[in-house]
Amino acid sequence: MTNLEKKYLRIIEQLQSLFAQTNNPQSRMASVCALLHHKMDHYFWTGYYLLDDNNDLLVSTYQGPIACLKLQKDKGVCWASINRKKSMFVPDVELFPGHIACNSLSKSEIVIPVYRNDEIVGVLDIDSNKKDAFKEYEIKYLEQINILIYS
Ligand code: SME
Repeated sequence: MTNLEKKYLRIIEQLQSLFAQTNNPQSRMASVCALLHHKMDHYFWTGYYLLDDNNDLLVSTYQGPIACLKLQKDKGVCWASINRKKSMFVPDVELFPGHIACNSLSKSEIVIPVYRNDEIVGVLDIDSNKKDAFKEYEIKYLEQINILIYS
């Protein structure tokens, strides 16, 4: 197991312990963003985009520079994750057709859906300012983290 994988496991344990304080999803998402963003050197932007009652995908809690408030429907990596109902691994955002650049410094990206029961309510979006910054196995740990939000 790599040091990065061990770090994810420690973060998951810490989140499980923190989440005993409340089952409020907003408080939990905010804590995920803060913890991941400040522990992971390769993260540049860490945040949640959530669907509202009009099916608009709006920015929610995040850490990092200012980002788009609303993502154009069916465009970009976050909407692809929702529409395909799967996590997205994008080593080079310039090679992803329709990628939405909220910040021109973002170069690679991971997007993980958030489920409430069986329904997708939004995504966790993580950007790096370097190409190829993420390992594909990081998805597995981030999916475990998202499962905790509504557990
Ligand atoms: N790149 C995302 C948009 C969100 S920002 O990166 C914070 C997308 O293509 O959906």
